[in-house]
Amino acid sequence: MAIPERMILVCQSFRANGDPKGLCHKQTNGFLQYIEEEILDRGLDCQIAATGCLKQCESGPVMVVQPDNWWFKGVDSEEAIDAILDGLEEGEPCADYLIS
Ligand code: FES
Repeated sequence: MAIPERMILVCQSFRANGDPKGLCHKQTNGFLQYIEEEILDRGLDCQIAATGCLKQCESGPVMVVQPDNWWFKGVDSEEAIDAILDGLEEGEPCADYLIS
């Protein structure tokens, strides 16, 4: 299989043993499944991955698109995901959620 054009990283708050988990995972239940389905529906050449804490907890839930290096904040709804994926299809980061 070919290597995907992009990776969508979804913070799931993992941290080293002993450190309390961050908050992103508490507000993103079911999002990985939703994004995966949207990627397929939209025909995007993307792979989704869950990550450890991305050290942007104050902006969470956090999602990142690589290799564009677009970091998004407040991704706490399917509407937010849709807006970000719309931007991805158009080749521009969705300004409403962009961490700048
Ligand atoms: S828990 Fe998501 S950035 Fe820290």
